[in-house]
Amino acid sequence: MTTILVTGALGQIGSELVPALRERYGADRVIATDLKVLPPGGAAAVAPYGHLDCTEPHQLHEVVRRYDVGTIYHLAALLSASAEAAPQLAWSVNMSGLYNVLEVAREYGCQVFFPSSIGVFGPSTPRDATPQVTIQRPTTIYGITKVAGELLCDYYAQRFGIDTRGLRLPGLVSYVAAPGGGTTDYAVEMFTHAVRYASYTCFLSADTRLDMMYMPDAIAAMMHVMEAEAGRLRYRNAYNVTAMSVTPAEIAEAIRRHIPGFGVDYEIDPVRQAIADSWPRSLDDSAAHRDWGWAPRFDLDAMTKDMLARLKDKLAAARGR
Ligand SMILES: NC(=O)c1ccc[n+]([C@@H]2O[C@H](COP(=O)([O-])OP(=O)(O)OC[C@H]3O[C@@H](n4cnc5c(N)ncnc54)[C@H](O)[C@@H]3O)[C@@H](O)[C@H]2O)c1
Repeated sequence: MTTILVTGALGQIGSELVPALRERYGADRVIATDLKVLPPGGAAAVAPYGHLDCTEPHQLHEVVRRYDVGTIYHLAALLSASAEAAPQLAWSVNMSGLYNVLEVAREYGCQVFFPSSIGVFGPSTPRDATPQVTIQRPTTIYGITKVAGELLCDYYAQRFGIDTRGLRLPGLVSYVAAPGGGTTDYAVEMFTHAVRYASYTCFLSADTRLDMMYMPDAIAAMMHVMEAEAGRLRYRNAYNVTAMSVTPAEIAEAIRRHIPGFGVDYEIDPVRQAIADSWPRSLDDSAAHRDWGWAPRFDLDAMTKDMLARLKDKLAAARGR
């Protein structure tokens, strides 16, 4: 049995994907890696853990060879807002990192998961019920790296027979790890601020409609598409997936059903607002439903109830320490 390598494992997704993979495939079979250097003793909690910079091909080779890696979940990347602040670094991490992963996968015959994004779409894409196959002309460096990434994964699948698979993930809402500099981070912040302060200042306008998904659904979708029968996948990179299409005002309203006094005001960040305005308002993910049975479990109300309960528990535990 080969092992599973996760790059960028200490981020928002990896913090929940690694435990889920370990539960399903066995703790010793999942190697968590990240650029971050953990404090002394910190690695024990996420072991097996290794420092790995995905822009350094020899480091990837070393880990894949040493641990007999058969599957790579390549999460390491700069997200939309962070990428816009450092476009050159974003190109290096997002493109060189993926190229190195695909090259090592070619050499060792690994299966690869690539997390694409709603950022692959741009202002000329139809913004409502955005189809699986449509115009992809993003205006952000993040989107450009994700479109190029989708194409590169398709190329490695067609040219070298590498089993690459991917999802166009929407904004992800979670309570375990903080989001890493994306345009949809406001949603997570809104929940955490609601529980801590009962108020929040949102950096997107009240009526900015975007797709979102609760993290347990995202983790299930990633593992599901990786286990899907290859012959059923009409698309490799990447499938549209979504769970809800919501605005800041609608999330605030859902939170108010649990925290009636929750107050939200709006101070628009022009950079992130411009990114959001170039993205779809809702995705058509019927191809994922049809081809490999994608079905989310959480809608806005179910996610809100669970998020608030988990965050309250987390806050109580932190205060009790
Ligand atoms: N979170 C979302 O809402 C979302 C939505 C769509 C797609 N995605 C994609 O999913 C992936 C993971 O996202 P996330 O939210 O966990 O991001 P994150 O920013 O929370 O985590 C990314 C991790 O990558 C690490 N990293 C950065 N540079 C690295 C390098 N050179 N080598 C190795 N590790 C490096 C960082 O230290 C960080 O821990 C990304 O590819 C992102 O584009 C995320």
